[in-house]
Amino acid sequence: MRTLQDLELKDSTIALRCDFNVPLNEQGEITDDLRITAALPTINALREAGARVVILAHLGRPKGVVVAELSLAPVAQRLSELLGIEVAFSHDPAEDTSVIDKLKVGDVALLENVRFDARETSKESAQRLDLASVWAHWADGFVSDGFGVVHREQASVTGLAQLVPSAAGLLVSRECEVFERLLEGAERPYTVLLGGSKVGDKLGVIESLLPRVDNLLIGGGMAYTFLLAIGCEIGQSISQPDFVNDAQRFIAQAKKLGVNLMLPVDIVIADRFSPDAVAQIVGRDEIPADQMGLDIGPKTRELYSAVIADSETIVWNGPMGVFEMAPFAGGTLAIAKAMAASDGFTVIGGGDSAAAVRLLNVNYENFDHISTGGGASLEFLEGKKLPGLTVLEGI
Ligand code: 3PG
Repeated sequence: MRTLQDLELKDSTIALRCDFNVPLNEQGEITDDLRITAALPTINALREAGARVVILAHLGRPKGVVVAELSLAPVAQRLSELLGIEVAFSHDPAEDTSVIDKLKVGDVALLENVRFDARETSKESAQRLDLASVWAHWADGFVSDGFGVVHREQASVTGLAQLVPSAAGLLVSRECEVFERLLEGAERPYTVLLGGSKVGDKLGVIESLLPRVDNLLIGGGMAYTFLLAIGCEIGQSISQPDFVNDAQRFIAQAKKLGVNLMLPVDIVIADRFSPDAVAQIVGRDEIPADQMGLDIGPKTRELYSAVIADSETIVWNGPMGVFEMAPFAGGTLAIAKAMAASDGFTVIGGGDSAAAVRLLNVNYENFDHISTGGGASLEFLEGKKLPGLTVLEGI
């Protein structure tokens, strides 16, 4: 993969793709700026090398029309604070280049949400290239540093890379290094924890990782489909009965491969999905018909934490319970703490688990790597070819 060293940066204008798809609250304030801080090393490296930096980014899925709530203006402001310079903001993601024309070496500009232009996400490659060629008029080079979007075939991800000299930024390079290590060459014992609500989203990852790991620990909403697969009654708990066969197949495959696939042994249940519901702890085969499981129980937390403590590589994707509600946050917090205390190589993949760690006040610095990719990190672990990376390969 080409890197920054492969580009002529001195006195150039570089289009830099970042993933600034950050969570905003109802007041439009950024609630987690991990994706912005993660982009700073590349932005600064480009500035120091003598480039003018023009950032392309998206927020949400506006589907080709202007949606005021999805403006990147709050990101421009946060970026200015973090860089300690005024980041110029262009309200037009494509045609108006007046902001770019005024940039000097070392300056930074952010263009408005590229997804306000329908060509960005068009299914037609000609449309995507049409938009990319507008940027190619002023861009001497393209740096891809939005790891969270490298699984997307979009104008600002794969289109521009085909028109001007292109390379991976420092964040994309680091993320690729970590995920390659997780696919080939992870130190053993190797443990993967999977949670989140839907088992259907994780089938590809389980398929890909099962032959590579020593322990696969399951929690979150997806655990109930596995509990169905071993014959437990799960009451009102969330599940995907269509995937029970897959869960049974994974359990059998784990046995055959000698992988320790663990399911929760106890569950925090409640009669409703609400922060003021009364929580109780029961064994996994004791969930009453009118109750639902909302977190892993204390015995499970202990068992999972012990496996984490004995592992050299630990990857975690997906919360263990409904961490946004205090009575059901204990499982996710216990796992975050066990990982934070580990001496092994610890990786948090996916937006939800990183958000959980932040919300529960566990310091990001306790982990070796927090991925900025949600879907992208899952697709990487599935072993899929990601178009935004493939386009940076070769000479
Ligand atoms: C993400 O949040 O995972 C990335 O920014 C990609 O967003 P998308 O799923 O809307 O393409």
